[in-house]
Amino acid sequence: MTPEPANRIKIAVQKSGRLTDHSLDLLSRCGLKYTKGRDQLICFGENLPIDVLLVRDDDIPALVREDVCDLGIVGANVLEERRLQYLDEGDEAPFVLVRELDFGHCRLSFAVPEDMQFSGAADLEGLRIATSYPHIVRDYLRREGLTASVVEFSGAVEIAPRLGRADVICDLVSSGNTLRANHLREAGTILSSVSSLIQTPKAVPAEKAEWMERIKKRIDGVIQVSESKYIMLHAPRSALAEITRLLPGSEAPTVMPLEGRDDKVAIHAVCRENVFWETLEELKLAGASSMLVLPVEKMLY
Ligand code: PRP
Ligand code: ZN
Repeated sequence: MTPEPANRIKIAVQKSGRLTDHSLDLLSRCGLKYTKGRDQLICFGENLPIDVLLVRDDDIPALVREDVCDLGIVGANVLEERRLQYLDEGDEAPFVLVRELDFGHCRLSFAVPEDMQFSGAADLEGLRIATSYPHIVRDYLRREGLTASVVEFSGAVEIAPRLGRADVICDLVSSGNTLRANHLREAGTILSSVSSLIQTPKAVPAEKAEWMERIKKRIDGVIQVSESKYIMLHAPRSALAEITRLLPGSEAPTVMPLEGRDDKVAIHAVCRENVFWETLEELKLAGASSMLVLPVEKMLY
């Protein structure tokens, strides 16, 4: 478990923010145990050849692009901003998107002062827009054929209108609390975001490649599991087709005979979606009985 330091996989994760706990939890559920370094910037993997670097989310795309880190977990909003920036600089493939993850859902939206008249994107014409996402906003304005000036802020964008630095803002919204606290009203979304896993565009040395693939498979498995349930039930043999149809997101269920009952079978299936009460009620109507729904702990395909 202790390959050369150079062959250990480095994963960049947001140091403190909306993605931090979810990202570390995801890696723990992939089996990674780690100790935090004294500077709190690196988590050293104890049982796998993987270390976690805790950094500002805005720095994650560059760390992965420059191959300082092999993998990174960052919001699609930050990725798109950097992708457009690197594209401007002539780099068309700064990182590889491996997959979207299942947390950190938010959106990049325009917001205007509560008392401002604003009926749609066309009203942006001629305004000053404060944002930390200048490339995304300029790209949007270009596509909409609008002319507006973009005022770059690295943080606290929501106070720009009150400071008289801008007329409207374009910023990340999740609960909407920040907007409300600043008397701003959401006025149109330009990007939906979710946390994403990215990988270096460079070829990974063979010694690392195997663990890279393993960790990506485990992440797939963890996400599948959180959305999956194992269901067991009894059903009349004659209702088999209908019951199979009702099982959400399941392929071929396992069908087993019941001792001494020719008319009934036991059905076991993995459902790749949550099983709601409504589904159980429909299954019951179709003839199912003795239904049990269990959480799935691990899954590997
Ligand atoms: C975003 C955004 C707002 C807040 C909105 O910042 O800039 O401050 O989240 O969330 P809410 O709608 O739930 O109130 P974030 O925490 O992502 O930090 P960063 O942009 O500085 O990395
Ligand atoms: Zn940030």
